[in-house]
Amino acid sequence: MEKYIINGGIPLHGEVEISGAKNAAVAILPATILAAGKCVIENLPAISDVMVSLQILSELGARVRLINKNTYEIDTTYLSCTEVPNELSRQMRASYYFLGALLGRFGNAQVAMPGGCNLGPRPIDQHLKAFTALGAEDSVEYGMINVHSDSLKGVHIFFDTVSVGATMNAMLSAVLAEGQTVLENVAKEPHVVDLANCLNMMGAEIRGAGTDVIRIRGVKSMHGCEYSIIPDQIEAGSYMVAAAVTGGDVTVRNVIPKHLEPITAKLRLAGCEVEEFDESVRVRRTGDLHPLKIKTMPHPGFPTDLQPLFAVMLCLAKGTSIITEGIWENRFRYADELAHMGANIQVDGQVAVIEGVDSLQAAPLRASDLRAGAALVVAALGAKGTSEVDETSHIERGYENIVEKFQALGADIKRVDKPVLNVNQAM
Ligand code: EPU
Repeated sequence: MEKYIINGGIPLHGEVEISGAKNAAVAILPATILAAGKCVIENLPAISDVMVSLQILSELGARVRLINKNTYEIDTTYLSCTEVPNELSRQMRASYYFLGALLGRFGNAQVAMPGGCNLGPRPIDQHLKAFTALGAEDSVEYGMINVHSDSLKGVHIFFDTVSVGATMNAMLSAVLAEGQTVLENVAKEPHVVDLANCLNMMGAEIRGAGTDVIRIRGVKSMHGCEYSIIPDQIEAGSYMVAAAVTGGDVTVRNVIPKHLEPITAKLRLAGCEVEEFDESVRVRRTGDLHPLKIKTMPHPGFPTDLQPLFAVMLCLAKGTSIITEGIWENRFRYADELAHMGANIQVDGQVAVIEGVDSLQAAPLRASDLRAGAALVVAALGAKGTSEVDETSHIERGYENIVEKFQALGADIKRVDKPVLNVNQAM
C-alpha cells in the first residue's frame, strides 16, 4: 500500500509529456482479439488498467511481448479461451470490452460484472441491447455475463442514451457481423474515433466515428496492424488545471489541442492564459481565478472526468461557482475531503455550489476514485503545508508516473510505502 506526501504551495513550472489515452487503450487492447494476428500497439500508458488488460489477453491465450515501456506486441492468432478470469475483470470497468471483442470473433464470451470507479449506478443495458440486436443471447449467472450467438447480423441500433462504452462495444461486436450495422445516437469522444481508426487499420470498414451516426460494413476477417494510441485528453487537462491551481506556467506536450477545446475555453474564462501550439498547450496563471458555471456533458461538451479537478480550481476562485454533473449520479465524493482543506463546497444531488476561499490548507486525504484522487493531489499541491493522499492505487489506474511528472514540474511530492498495521502491536 502506498501514499503520496505532498508539500504544497509551490507554483508548477516546466514541461510535461502526456501519455496515451487510458480510455482508448482499454478498448484497443481487447480489439486486438478481432485481428486474429499480430498487432503492435504503441503509446500505451503504463498504468494498472493497461496491465490488467494485457494480463487478461495473456490468460485468454494471446502472446503478449513487451517491446518497450509503452509498446507491446500482441499476437491473438491462437487465442481461443472466451472466459475472462473473474478476479481480473472485476479490477476495472473496461473489462466489458472483452464481451464485444470475444463475441465478435468467437460468437461467445463470459465476463464478470465489471468493476471500476464507484460513481453511482453504472448499468450496461445499452451494451446488451447492441449485442442482442446483432443476434446474440445474453444471460447473467452468478455474477458472470454470458453472451452467445451462432451468427451475428448487421442491424440498425438507436441508443437510448449516449454511452461511450456501449458505442465502442457495439463497434467491436459488429465489425465481423454479416452485412451493415448502423449505430445512432452514439458517443463522439476522441477515444471512440481512435478505436474506429485502429479497427479500420485491422481491416474493418467503419465510417462516421466522431459524428452521431456510425456505419459499419461487416468484413469476413481482419488482420494485425501497428497502431499508436492518441494522447490522453483527461491527463492533459489534469496538468493544465494543476498549473492554474498553483499559479504556475506549464507546457503540456504531446497533445491534440482540438481535443482540449472544452477545457481550454473554461480555463480562459477562469482567467488563465492558454496558448495553443501544434502538439502542445501552455497554461499560465498570474492573476485571480474567476468563478465558472460548468455542466458536464458527452463530448464535445465539458468532460465529466475533469469535473473534480475543475472543482478544486474553483475552490480558489473569487466568487461563487456552480457545477452540474450531467453524466454520473455520484461524482462529488471528493467534496468532503476538500471541505477538510477549508473549501466551501455544498453538494445537493447533481449540483455543487462552490464559494471561493483565499487558500486551501493541507490535510490527510483519501482518494475515493481515479479522478477524485487526481483532484486531491492537485488540491494538495495548491495548499500550503504537508498533505498525505491515501489509497493512491485508484490514481495509478489511470495516470502514468504522476508523482515523477509533478516532481519534474518542481512539485515537492513523493510516493511512500504505507506501513502495514501489525494487529498484535496495535493491541
Ligand atoms: N449508461 C446507461 N446504460 C448503459 C451505459 C451507460 O444508462 O448501458 C449511462 C451511464 O449510467 C451514464 C451515461 O450513460 O450515466 C454515460 O456512461 P458511459 O457508458 O458513457 O460511460 P462508460 O463507458 O462506463 C466511460 C469512461 C469514464 C467516463 C465516461 C463518460 C472508460 C473505461 N470509462 O465510461 O471514465 O467518465 O465514459 O465520458 O472509458 C474515468 O476515466 O475516470 C472514467 C470514469
